[in-house]
Amino acid sequence: MKTTISHIKADIGSLPGHTTVYGPVEEELRKYVTEHSRDLLDDFHISHIGDDLQITMVHNRGIDNAEIHGLAWEAFKAGTKVAKKAGLYGAGQDLLKDAFSGNIKGMGPGIAEMEITERKSEPFIVYMMDKTEPGAFNFPIFKMFADPFNTPGLVIDPNMHEGFRFEIWDVMEGKKIELSSPDQMYDILAMIGSKSRYVIKRVFTKESHEKLPDENVAVVTTDKLSLIAGEYVGKDDPAAIVRIQSGLPASGESLEAFSHPFLVSGWMRGSFNGPMMPVGMKDSKMTRFDGPPRVVGLGFTLKEGRLAGPVDLFDDIAFADARRKAIEMTDHLRRMGPFEPHRLPESEMEYTTLPKVLSNLEGRFTPIEDHINKEKLKEPVREVD
Ligand code: F6R
Ligand code: MG
Ligand code: MG
Repeated sequence: MKTTISHIKADIGSLPGHTTVYGPVEEELRKYVTEHSRDLLDDFHISHIGDDLQITMVHNRGIDNAEIHGLAWEAFKAGTKVAKKAGLYGAGQDLLKDAFSGNIKGMGPGIAEMEITERKSEPFIVYMMDKTEPGAFNFPIFKMFADPFNTPGLVIDPNMHEGFRFEIWDVMEGKKIELSSPDQMYDILAMIGSKSRYVIKRVFTKESHEKLPDENVAVVTTDKLSLIAGEYVGKDDPAAIVRIQSGLPASGESLEAFSHPFLVSGWMRGSFNGPMMPVGMKDSKMTRFDGPPRVVGLGFTLKEGRLAGPVDLFDDIAFADARRKAIEMTDHLRRMGPFEPHRLPESEMEYTTLPKVLSNLEGRFTPIEDHINKEKLKEPVREVD
């Protein structure tokens, strides 16, 4: 029988601003899932990063299951009640719809789910990010599954040598494509470098994988709150599940992808670029300039539906230098204030509050008299020898 891992996350209020979750709300979530999951789940784990609560669930009902999604939705609603009572900021923020209609997709929370053939030992890592967008996973997932300088297993392990298949979503157009690495690596990179539009949704093993053929081995939440709500309602902070070891990236190859603090979008007001800082759970408070953007990695193993762990993987001295570099990058970028490229380009500010500010200025523009208009540009220019 197949096992399903479903990770569902939402921001249902935080304190004092968009900084961190409130203990009693997390407790309520834990209590709700404990009391209502007996016939549904084999196991679960509740955690958080910054202002986002996270539910990792193990069951055998497959992905997109109405009862599993419904359980998470109702748990977030129960948590929202506590958040509202305490006057938390943004209470219930990510629960965009009033009534649950069988699938939590498009309702606000982020979802990453995969149905797997459970191995003798099934190790996996849940990565959770705050103050960024789903495309922030493009860089580290690519490094884990396609870059031999990050993952020498791609060169050394015969099961990894054939590479992996990537399912990439165009979240603007609602289209997807599947590409194979290493043969189509340049095509993959041509897309996923545009991380606000093309996002890696899933990674699969190839058929030739001797231990785990044609299996889903990584999945990322790709929910874009801004596109769901039509206006800015908070950032779509992502999470991912990555299976590891035995013909897949080793735990350390997976973590290695975060050793260099790469730049991501979505910091302060969803409008700034900043470095991705790997931290332990105890450091997952969004403080300086509502950040900097952070990632927590929780390592589990799974046996017949039961979870062991988690291990708080970035809570380690080996990532101290990555944190220091991220803080250095923060100092460097912050000096730019509201200027690009610290601030996002205009095209990406569309779903923020900036267009409202700019629209107030519209009537005050006057034409530039000697403006070189398009017609003038069409006139022939003198030929140069
Ligand atoms: C929210 C976020 C924050 C807020 C900022 C302003 O996840 O990234 O940086 O955008 O704190 O919030 P408001 O407009 O709610 O005061
Ligand atoms: Mg928030
Ligand atoms: Mg958040």
